[in-house]
Amino acid sequence: MRQSPVLRRMVQQNRFTADSLILPLFARFGKKLRQPVGSMPGVFQLSPDEVLKEAEKAHALGVPAVILFGIPDKKDEKASGAYATNGIVQQAVKLLKKELPNLLVITDVCLCEYMSHGHCGIVHKGRGQVQNDPSLQLLARTALSHAEAGVDIVAPSDMMDGRVAAIRTLLDDRNYADTPILSYAAKFASAYYGPFREAAESTPQFGDRRSYQMDPANSDEAMREVAMDLQEGADMVMVKPALAYLDILHRVKEEFGYPTAAYAVSGEYSMIKAAAAKGWIDERAVTMETLLSMKRAGADMVITYSATDVAGWLREGR
Ligand code: PBG
Ligand code: ZN
Repeated sequence: MRQSPVLRRMVQQNRFTADSLILPLFARFGKKLRQPVGSMPGVFQLSPDEVLKEAEKAHALGVPAVILFGIPDKKDEKASGAYATNGIVQQAVKLLKKELPNLLVITDVCLCEYMSHGHCGIVHKGRGQVQNDPSLQLLARTALSHAEAGVDIVAPSDMMDGRVAAIRTLLDDRNYADTPILSYAAKFASAYYGPFREAAESTPQFGDRRSYQMDPANSDEAMREVAMDLQEGADMVMVKPALAYLDILHRVKEEFGYPTAAYAVSGEYSMIKAAAAKGWIDERAVTMETLLSMKRAGADMVITYSATDVAGWLREGR
């Protein structure tokens, strides 16, 4: 069965298509701004007009969706920029939905980029620890502001308990019952997020995220996280990072059967880019093989910084 390309293709069990691609984009205020992210070659902080250009390019090649992250001008202790009516993400969403109505626009819902301390929730002054329950209201407010700007899907990435329910309740109350929630359900406290924190300027100013993100050693707990988010009303779930957590991805898809996204995170991208730049690996071949592994493990969608390149390669064919 391996004798010819046509026969190999006929018996091929898994195939990666552009329909499952989601491209992350980093938006910041300005005009004609394309600020390169040093640790992520090919990735930029973009002003809204440039976000539109990148989204247009990706969409024209067949990428159906983008996920937006925002870098505000000012950070504070209550993440005001996260839910500001004219915040950076809200502006970018409005522009994208106006110019590219058929592009699916997803927003990352979190507070870390907007907090002066860089944590994903409200921090207790004395103890220096993130407080779960007081953070829920701000997260829900942030999701609502994205919905009001016209977003298609909200994706909470903070890992607070109960945030899916809080977001669902507020959206339903305000006539956004049709806005789906893609929850970062099993998100691990990972060293693979390093380059992203440079891109999003969201490095915690003290401590780390291990009091709210998952311990990489745990898999049963990941199932409980997913079960909880689904019970609270999540429509789709995510496993993050992807490559080092393919076992989790596989279990989540097997046990729950929901639309499941894998996030091929910044460190995964940077490792391939760095080795390819040295001529040690073939970027295109390694990227495609890696994405296929996520599909094989059970991913319906893959969030990847390579989405535009991948869509182009898929067009070229073999
Ligand atoms: C913020 C957030 C992070 C990522 C997505 N949303 C970083 C973090 O939790 O520190 C990581 C994405 C990547 O590394 O590509 N909550
Ligand atoms: Zn966060």
